[in-house]
Amino acid sequence: MAPPGASTCSGCHGSGASASAPGSAVPALQGQEPEAITAAMQAFRTGRREATVMDRIAKGFTDEETRAIAVWVSQQH
Ligand code: HEC
Repeated sequence: MAPPGASTCSGCHGSGASASAPGSAVPALQGQEPEAITAAMQAFRTGRREATVMDRIAKGFTDEETRAIAVWVSQQH
């Protein structure tokens, strides 16, 4: 089962093999390392990485929640 909050990610990032539509501005998450997703979320949250929407989204989760979501989304195929 998806950890809390993880299902909201797929609304933009897609789920399943098709992931983001070609040419979409939203990068695919599945197949990425959980560590990379966690690091990106932390960078968005602290403002180290520029974002249009992910800064606000990343602020809604603790490190633990982010980690659980990262593991889950990286395992979706
Ligand atoms: C409203 C749409 C939307 C939602 C919901 C959303 N994202 Fe994003 N995500 C984006 C966009 C757009 C980007 C590109 C950076 C930016 O402009 O903010 C992005 C970038 C990312 C990146 C960087 C990926 C890379 O390869 O560079 C990660 C990691 C990420 N999102 C994780 C998540 C997670 C985890 C969730 C669920 C908690 C989530 N996103 C929910 C739109 C969304």
